[in-house]
Amino acid sequence: MIRIGLVGCGFIGSIHSLALRGLAGGGLVDARVVAAYDTDASRGEATAAQHPGAVAASCLDALVDAVDVIWVATWTAAHGEAVEAAARAGRAVFCEKPLAPTFEECRRVAEALRTVPHQVGLVLRRSPVFAAMAEAVARHGRPLAAVLRDDQYLPDQGVYGSTWRTDVHRAGGGTLIEHSIHDLDLLRWFLGDPETVAARTGSRCGLPGIEDTAVVTLAYPDGTTATLVSVWHQVLTRPSTRRLEVFCEDAFLWTEDDHLGPLHVETSAGSEVVEGRPPGWIGDLAVPAELAVPLGQYAAPSKDFLDALAEGGSGFPDAATALAAHRLVDLAYCSAAQGGVPLPVGTGPAR
Ligand SMILES: NC(=O)c1ccc[n+]([C@@H]2O[C@H](COP(=O)([O-])OP(=O)(O)OC[C@H]3O[C@@H](n4cnc5c(N)ncnc54)[C@H](O)[C@@H]3O)[C@@H](O)[C@H]2O)c1
Repeated sequence: MIRIGLVGCGFIGSIHSLALRGLAGGGLVDARVVAAYDTDASRGEATAAQHPGAVAASCLDALVDAVDVIWVATWTAAHGEAVEAAARAGRAVFCEKPLAPTFEECRRVAEALRTVPHQVGLVLRRSPVFAAMAEAVARHGRPLAAVLRDDQYLPDQGVYGSTWRTDVHRAGGGTLIEHSIHDLDLLRWFLGDPETVAARTGSRCGLPGIEDTAVVTLAYPDGTTATLVSVWHQVLTRPSTRRLEVFCEDAFLWTEDDHLGPLHVETSAGSEVVEGRPPGWIGDLAVPAELAVPLGQYAAPSKDFLDALAEGGSGFPDAATALAAHRLVDLAYCSAAQGGVPLPVGTGPAR
């Protein structure tokens, strides 16, 4: 049995906790949470109490000692310390995105991750709708242009209720690094690495270093372009929404849901609606029935990682994939700081 330790038991740590308990309880993995740790001890204790026999660790080192793999779900600035402690002890690591607040720190976290079996929480890589999108992009002629809009309310409220997301030292920035690291990773998946990155950012929320609007233009060597618009607003009915449109030579592809879609495919022959399907095992996830499908967005990548560990392998998306997305985020910040000039991806300076 693989012994799991959870580090960081806030919003996403609790979701991972539930997903991991559901996987173990459903007999879907030979693994279970045996320890939890949070600098807010009451959170570590509450999470440990959700897992039969699990303990609330008194410190990071005690947790690392007691487990085979750690799930790092602290706020972004604390990822590095936990990853490095686990890597020193030779423990496998699931690390949430973003890897760290600055690109230089991301490099260090990625280096530590590379020394052990690992996976990064870029969970949209496992969304059925985006798997269908990747397959459709490959099938419908050359991509011409992509437009991705990502918006959510300023996350110091609502389900996130977060203090650190408005603190540049703990978050690294605003909507671009915190939310749109997923988007830039998706665009890399579908279109590859761009030649240049140009960006403009704005901060109407008035929080130092926290941009709440960003427009990023990616230009590809063959003339393809992609535009990302990323916004944190005050519309509390919109917690996390994405709309992606991709024009290929022979098809217009779009979706407005980042998990199951559907994906809409329009060609000269007509329109098709491709429904994303949750994994076949989703009904066995030991969670309340109404939670099984939404929780699948986190349970599926976790199961992939635990299955890979059980076979002596590592996970995906990996540190290199995450670092490549971080490089685009970093270039976007550098470009914005220079008034929006396009910066080459190959040689751009780190922020
Ligand atoms: N992949 C995704 O879809 C996704 C979704 C949400 C959040 N995230 C990422 O997960 C991370 C956590 O976000 P959140 O919304 O859960 O934040 P949160 O504030 O709800 O939880 C963070 C927790 O970490 C704890 N913590 C802070 N420093 C610690 C340390 N050194 N050791 C142990 N615990 C520590 C805090 O006490 C808190 O309980 C962030 O990096 C965020 O970007 C990823």
